[in-house]
Amino acid sequence: MSIRLGVNIDHVATIRNARGENHPDPHKAAKKALEYGADSITIHLREDRRHINDNDLKLISSIKSIPLNLEMASNYEMLKIAIKYKPNFVCIVPEKRNEITTEGGLNLKKNINKLKSIIEILNRNNIRTSLFINPTIYDVKISNFLNAKCIELHTGKISNQVKKNKQYTSQLKKIKSCAKYANLLGLEVHAGHGMDYKTAKILSKVKEIKEFNIGHFIIGESIIFGLKKTISRFKKILK
Ligand code: PXP
Repeated sequence: MSIRLGVNIDHVATIRNARGENHPDPHKAAKKALEYGADSITIHLREDRRHINDNDLKLISSIKSIPLNLEMASNYEMLKIAIKYKPNFVCIVPEKRNEITTEGGLNLKKNINKLKSIIEILNRNNIRTSLFINPTIYDVKISNFLNAKCIELHTGKISNQVKKNKQYTSQLKKIKSCAKYANLLGLEVHAGHGMDYKTAKILSKVKEIKEFNIGHFIIGESIIFGLKKTISRFKKILK
């Protein structure tokens, strides 16, 4: 079975917001991405609303039968929003105001009580919850303890190494062993952050990974080659 491709459209909103007008439209991009073969749409409603905003979430979640993955910080304001719009999936991510992008996985130990209660509520609402974690066995173990359904392994480090033609075998080994262990525990394994065609190809060989969430590269590549071509090239890699 092929790996599912989640297309993150945050950066359609980044381009729109650069002008403060309504173009390009993330809602339209979500529909087109699905038409071109995306298995799900990912949006990150950040606390500072720097790209996707509440109205985008409202419009995108109203697309008929959209498999929507909402990335959000672990706080009760976001939880309330998730319960209101009922995306199929939530991925809990760390957030820092001044970061350019999500720099690493969650600090599970520090936030354990809050995460436990948020995940419990999301589970009760039948929202599949994933935790964005660094590829460590310790974090896989805690994710399982927290009753998350899935983990998303942060692939930022390996993606950078691949892009810079650096040695990536040790990072790949970590990802492989975490994926294997999580799978044994019954957690579904996803991967995301910083991926391009090359990293996607390398990681597509890790058979426990069932879903990739890719954003920046897809939107960037689409400006030059189009969304349809870019998505279908990824779909071929993930087959
Ligand atoms: N997965 C998660 C949890 C993320 O936070 C992000 C970035 O928003 C991505 C995947 C996509 O990363 P990129 O835009 O680098 O492909």
